[in-house]
Amino acid sequence: MSAWDTIKTAFFGGLTFLFFFVIWIYNPFVHHTEYEVPSQMEEIINDPKAAVEGRELFKTMCASCHSVRYDGMYLMSVASKPEFKKILDSFGTLIRIDEKTKEKVMFLPRDVYEAIAMNDLLMLKSSFGKIPPDLSTMYLSRGEGYLYNFILKPQEVLPGTSMPAVMTGQEENTAKIVAYLKSVSEPSKGEKVKRTIMGILVIGYFIAMGFLLWIWRKKLLANMGYGH
Ligand code: HEC
Repeated sequence: MSAWDTIKTAFFGGLTFLFFFVIWIYNPFVHHTEYEVPSQMEEIINDPKAAVEGRELFKTMCASCHSVRYDGMYLMSVASKPEFKKILDSFGTLIRIDEKTKEKVMFLPRDVYEAIAMNDLLMLKSSFGKIPPDLSTMYLSRGEGYLYNFILKPQEVLPGTSMPAVMTGQEENTAKIVAYLKSVSEPSKGEKVKRTIMGILVIGYFIAMGFLLWIWRKKLLANMGYGH
């Protein structure tokens, strides 16, 4: 290899390394903020029982403005419409039966939900300048530190936000609501186990197939007079 080749290899190798470093490890263009969560509150956030209580809290504290469609949680004003139950029966699919209330938790496609909720959503938009977002996947995009601090003190985390501070001084209940939002965005324990088993089986299959193909190739080569 000539000196020139060595320089080229080092240059493009370095560029490739830098590319993946920025993508996977540290991106200097993204604003990094660490949000602290007291360890006691972190325990609550990771407790599945707290998530069940968090769901009830969400219903009373947040569902006047926010939906969690992936968990069949809709704006209070929409869910209480007399025709809403019929819409659920016609267009919804069953997510699960609620353990506590024994009620059916139903998923509605976004277009159907927004059609029936349009007036309520526009009312919220005219009051707050923005439709309060659906929170189904908010845990995934924001993480628990941000959510805990934002819900507790919206103005401190996002100055100028139109989200009102509804949980001031209620650290524990805020943690329970974050536990709820976490439980919605994460698959259940049973589902996680199923996925792990599937992953092991798929990789095992590839390894077994690779081994069989290797034996078969050897045999073919031997038949053709290569090897022995
Ligand atoms: C009176 C209406 C109202 C209530 C009640 C309310 N919110 Fe909000 N929320 C908003 C609005 C409006 C926004 C959009 C704010 C923005 O983008 O500046 C928002 C935004 C959010 C966001 C997104 C923040 C982001 O970074 O984009 C989260 C998370 C959130 N709310 C959680 C909650 C939770 C949890 C509760 C209940 C404890 C709650 N909200 C109660 C109106 C409300």
